[in-house]
Amino acid sequence: MSALLAPGIAAPDATTLPRLVPSPPATTLGAHLDRFGPLPVAPGAILVDQVARAGLRGRGGAAFPTATKLDAVRRRTGGRSLLGRSRAGVVVANGTEGEPASKKDVTLLALAPHLVIDGTLAAARAVGADRILLCVDRSSARAVRAVGQALADRPPLDDLVIELVTTPTRYVVGEESALVHFLNGGDAKPTMVPPRPFERGVGGAPTLLSNVETFAHIALIARFGGDWWKAVGTPVDPGSALFSVGGGVDRPGVYELPLGVRLDAVLRHAGTRPAAGVLLGGYFGTWLSPSTADSIRLAGTDLAHVGASIGCGVIAVVPASSCPLAEVARVTAWLAGQSAGQCGPCVFGLPAISAALQTVVAGERTGRAEASLRRWLPMVNGRGACKLPDAVYRFVGSALNVFDAHLAEHRRAGACGLDTRPVLPVPHEDGPWR
Ligand SMILES: Cc1cc2nc3c(=O)[nH]c(=O)nc-3n(C[C@H](O)[C@H](O)[C@H](O)COP(=O)(O)O)c2cc1C
Ligand code: SF4
Repeated sequence: MSALLAPGIAAPDATTLPRLVPSPPATTLGAHLDRFGPLPVAPGAILVDQVARAGLRGRGGAAFPTATKLDAVRRRTGGRSLLGRSRAGVVVANGTEGEPASKKDVTLLALAPHLVIDGTLAAARAVGADRILLCVDRSSARAVRAVGQALADRPPLDDLVIELVTTPTRYVVGEESALVHFLNGGDAKPTMVPPRPFERGVGGAPTLLSNVETFAHIALIARFGGDWWKAVGTPVDPGSALFSVGGGVDRPGVYELPLGVRLDAVLRHAGTRPAAGVLLGGYFGTWLSPSTADSIRLAGTDLAHVGASIGCGVIAVVPASSCPLAEVARVTAWLAGQSAGQCGPCVFGLPAISAALQTVVAGERTGRAEASLRRWLPMVNGRGACKLPDAVYRFVGSALNVFDAHLAEHRRAGACGLDTRPVLPVPHEDGPWR
């Protein structure tokens, strides 16, 4: 650990949270250096080893091992990092955060932009990149301003160019092939993979594309080492993660939590009212019944047993006073509208699923629309170039399981009589694809 320790800075207590956004936040370069010290310069292989030792997994939703990604790009570039080398790589920090219920990335960028930048610098040197692109949703004015100011505060570097790129506000923009396509001058729409970014990404170069929170963790590992980093969490799910907690809670917000923490403890802390259900992982995620939410930990192993995952860290509560089916139908209509219009099952399947859901919510005694829904959902799963249809499959499919009593009531009485005012966020407008 000490080989990586920031010079002149004692490692903070590894078990004290929050780590990523200290209080008060370190938005200026001076405050950031006071808190974290300078970024140590270590050989790239050491950083990759430490990230592997930490067991860091990406925080963009799929929880892919970060060291494997670093290593894949490093192998393609040979780890060279001198400006202008033809096979130098590119680092892309994904701060597009198209998930409406997630606020963690814009919050992190607004409050700790230098930590994210440090993570991209450490990663760029490790993978032999000479260009860093910090991609931020253009409608997140606070984050765009904070990153722009942070870059302006830093002296230029000899070996690396860092650019801020603002991105369209669309759900699928953050999908890696869509983002690379956009950065290469095209529309921000997913393309058929392969090649994956690490093979041929921005400008055809091997590209490390990771979530901004992942880079902030890399910055901590680069300073304090993998053993320090994994002092919180569980052996299988090490470290901490940012969670956006919202919906029917008294204290919504972004919380940094150790992995493995009990979900009911988090919900109590955020001030939950009695819930109809809890959505975990955002609109790509899975609905949990209140009893399941009371009995599991936020750890991949526990969640896999109930078909869920942490995803992008959204925890959204629908209170018992609200109709969860109306929420599911409203969000599904929005998801269907997010299709990039390229794949048949997505273009035709999602609107059909959305329409059937509206019929179910309006109360259909025959149960025909519900039967169609159950038949159609598996038909769209895994059938798009990106995973948008899979999101609808999981989001709607888990709702049909968890809200079976509500479904029965809609079938019997036409509606459940609960409040249908919106709880989950859905943007009213989506910008153009460029
Ligand atoms: C439809 C769709 C939308 C996505 N949106 C985001 C996003 O907004 N931010 C993000 O970091 N990753 C998003 N992802 C995941 C990215 O494709 C990619 O896996 C991730 O940025 C990699 O970062 P990580 O390894 O740090 O998790 C999305 C994926 C899909 C399929
Ligand atoms: S699955 Fe849908 S959103 Fe994804 S690429 Fe195909 S049409 Fe576009």
